[in-house]
Amino acid sequence: MCGIVGYVGPRPSQDILLAGLARLEYRGYDSAGIAVIDSEGQLGMRKKAGKLQVLRDSLADAPLADGSTGIGHTRWATHGGPTDVNAHPHLADEGRLALIHNGIIENFAALRDELTAEGVTFVSETDSEVAAALLGREYRASGDLQAAFRSVVNRLEGAFTLLAVHQDEPGLVVGARRNSPLVIGLGEGENFLGSDVAAFVEHTRSALAIGQDQIVAITPASVTVTTFDGEPVDAQPFEVSWNAAAAEKGGWSSFMAKEVAEQPEAVANTIRGRIHDGEVVIPELDGLDDLFTGVRRVIITACGTASYAALVGKYAIEQWARVPVDVELAHELRYRDPVIGSETLVVSISQSGETMDTLMAVKYARERGARTLSICNTQGATIPRESDAVVYTHAGPEVAVASTKAFSAQITALLLLGLHMGRVRGTVSASDSRAAVAELQSLSAKVAQVLAEESEHVSQLAGWMADTRSVLFLGRHVGFPIALEGALKLKEISYIHAEGFAAGELKHGPIALIEPGQPVFVLVPSPRHSALIHSKVVSNIQEIRARGARVIVVAEEGDAAVLPYADEVIRIPLAEPLFEPLLSVVPLQIFAMALATAKGLDVDQPRNLAKSVTVE
Ligand code: M6R
Repeated sequence: MCGIVGYVGPRPSQDILLAGLARLEYRGYDSAGIAVIDSEGQLGMRKKAGKLQVLRDSLADAPLADGSTGIGHTRWATHGGPTDVNAHPHLADEGRLALIHNGIIENFAALRDELTAEGVTFVSETDSEVAAALLGREYRASGDLQAAFRSVVNRLEGAFTLLAVHQDEPGLVVGARRNSPLVIGLGEGENFLGSDVAAFVEHTRSALAIGQDQIVAITPASVTVTTFDGEPVDAQPFEVSWNAAAAEKGGWSSFMAKEVAEQPEAVANTIRGRIHDGEVVIPELDGLDDLFTGVRRVIITACGTASYAALVGKYAIEQWARVPVDVELAHELRYRDPVIGSETLVVSISQSGETMDTLMAVKYARERGARTLSICNTQGATIPRESDAVVYTHAGPEVAVASTKAFSAQITALLLLGLHMGRVRGTVSASDSRAAVAELQSLSAKVAQVLAEESEHVSQLAGWMADTRSVLFLGRHVGFPIALEGALKLKEISYIHAEGFAAGELKHGPIALIEPGQPVFVLVPSPRHSALIHSKVVSNIQEIRARGARVIVVAEEGDAAVLPYADEVIRIPLAEPLFEPLLSVVPLQIFAMALATAKGLDVDQPRNLAKSVTVE
């Protein structure tokens, strides 16, 4: 959480910092601030509780002198509520030094006591101000910001990205990272730092990834990366594959609306370049067959929406690769004693590639000797760099907090991975593989068809249900994770109570929730593949209907068996069972978005949330 941006170069920095913060606002939006060393060499700072616009308004009312070295921060509160005082930057060294922080400093209380005993007074409730005060003290001792950073980072425990400027060293921004993201943007006579490339992609697509426990110093003409002990490091260069326009709203009412609509492209782009002669060929996995041949167990680990993609992946990998797959929430994985060893493949899934829980689960698995593969949407992110292999999803930047196109791309990547594993392990025949690949290639057009044919109908339905207080979602087989995802989308952006259940679980408790008028979405599997599962779901529909539920069915075209029992029918095109989730999730995303909109809520920045959860 928290977005961080730094700039040094020939241009006035305030606009660059504010534009960078606008692109990072998805990471946290309860307060924002900037610090700039002006052309007279004076450090100026402004910070405000509330969204970035509050800071912008304040700067418009009372401008801050501009200069070409600066840092900016957009916050998701951890220590201390979202107030002006707790917002970043935090000042030290009598207002000559400014620091911003993302993460949690676990030993902040001990450090605070130490500094208080030395006479330092603190004005905020944050752990970050302690880091600023410590840096101020070390700067006074050395008169060198980089040396001061080296002393400070070795004293901090926990997760942090820090950036700081000092007015006695204009033209320099120093940063450090441990278990929190930071990337460098390389410009011509100017350089940038950001929590992710979105902070600077409008200025440069050339980037450098900074590893764990490294310090970076940027000036207009140089970039230096060292370890925490000052040893030089060769940072890895990469080119950002999307441009600034991809991260703009582009005329859509919200980023979420745009991203829902981009799903056909996200699916197609994730497949692109990975199919040759009807076979799945994943170039990133070239020469890594041993990841799959020697494996006796697969654990897929992720959080939130990505964990529901993982559940779909479980069905696909087990069916095709004939290896047992468990799905583990990343924050649960390492707090017990799981059976993980060299014959375990741990697949992590993360849109951001920075989710702390997932990152820690990957590290834990590696320490236990497991092989690790990540499915990730963000280049240069930490999780892929901590893994033995990566399969990138190519959904493009996802800005709305509620994940949509990244979810579709994750499922697509898992389907590709499952088929690839099946072929490598010899459990999928060439002809079955060709049939599955053909199905996969047809999916993008089918997602587009759902968007074209059902958006209006589903939005109308949501509009009628704006006063609903609770919605339930039921599914079986791969419909179960989609029921969970439908409920999460609704909770997340419309603040309505929602639950997803495996339809078979209904009679074991949840059916008690059904009362007259209770809306229930039911994901009906195709009758063409398993008449048995289909008939069981139809029975479930009858059971809830008999108790007065208002039944909204998502069913394939031509399935007439559901008609007598459904209040509403949402149609999806025909697809093989493992591929259906890519179609059935779309109406549920649209429903959540339309209902939140009908309630007048901000669908892109729901309360209490941030897109990238970089604290545990
Ligand atoms: O960046 P990640 O994919 O690792 O994020 C995982 C979850 O935090 C994320 O999917 C979250 O549940 C979304 N806000 C759901 O829409």
